[in-house]
Amino acid sequence: MLILGIETSCDETGIALYDSERGLRAHALFSQIDMHADYGGVVPELASRDHVRKLLPLCDQVLADAGCGRADIDGIAYTAGPGLVGALMVGGSVAHALGFALGVPVLGVHHMEGHLLAPMLEPEPPAFPFVALLVSGGHTQLVRVDGIGEYEMLGESVDDAAGEAFDKTAKMLGLDYPGGPRVAALAEQGREGRYRFPRPMTDRPGLDFSFSGLKTFTLNTVTAAEEAGELDDQVRADIALAFETAVVDTLVIKCRRALQQTGCKRLVIAGGVSANKRLRHALEAMTGKLGAGVFYARPEFCTDNGAMIAYAGCQRLLAGQRDGERIVAVPRWPM
Ligand code: KG4
Ligand code: ZN
Repeated sequence: MLILGIETSCDETGIALYDSERGLRAHALFSQIDMHADYGGVVPELASRDHVRKLLPLCDQVLADAGCGRADIDGIAYTAGPGLVGALMVGGSVAHALGFALGVPVLGVHHMEGHLLAPMLEPEPPAFPFVALLVSGGHTQLVRVDGIGEYEMLGESVDDAAGEAFDKTAKMLGLDYPGGPRVAALAEQGREGRYRFPRPMTDRPGLDFSFSGLKTFTLNTVTAAEEAGELDDQVRADIALAFETAVVDTLVIKCRRALQQTGCKRLVIAGGVSANKRLRHALEAMTGKLGAGVFYARPEFCTDNGAMIAYAGCQRLLAGQRDGERIVAVPRWPM
């Protein structure tokens, strides 16, 4: 079954072709980051308009790369949410129109399920069951995964997502959007021990997270350094490192707890923040000590992409699921 995947939930137009027998055939991504950079964040209307411009040309490019035509497509999966409603509607409309024209089934899938299953696209995918840490711009969740669609929420952020905290910290440090990779790059120059930031909610039992206090702590630290006339490049890097280390430590502590509680021997990390090298290294060290394994997608499949949607959609289409005639677009949608 050859599935076309369409991702348009935010600021990336992602298209991919996934073959249930042969695996990923082709994928393409257009990022709108440069377009939104002047505004310091994603402008929803501009995002929708750009998806309209890029979607069909990218579909044709991916089909050409795979040596296929539209007639070879057996099903279409698109991101139905959560995300920006206008952006979701663009992907859903194209998916339904193409599906209708080609006479093939169409299915809207959950964006976070896409992230969660992205490591399945790698040469050595994790076996079920596993614990997944989903860390993106909008979500921080720990999920027990027993199979496709068999998800048990173990814990989640009670306020900001980890990626959001990275983006806001970047802004405080005068870095561009999206902040995660830029904070991580700046932290490389930081001196250890110059600052120590809190590890929120780690002294309490449970698997929930909170990152808004850490954000305030960062703001207070930046403001104090500024007022003392100390906020030079070195101090900015020191703050970036202290912030990143605090987020990573917090995530590692909760992941360890989740593995111990569930008895699972496999940890999957997914979503934009799972591209973070310090987080990967720290989780590798932690799982190594527990005799467990950690799995993640290649960096380009950690952030938003069409391949994860094609994969997740393929599994569900194979199980017989499909949309009715209506386009599904759900801006807020718990998994
Ligand atoms: O999964 P994603 O592409 O989009 C959402 O579904 O939200 O995640 C984007 C988030 C942003 O907050 C971005 O700053 C963060 O992932 N991010 C990173 C890194 N790369 C992306 N955060 C920390 N370190 C990174 N290397
Ligand atoms: Zn995402």
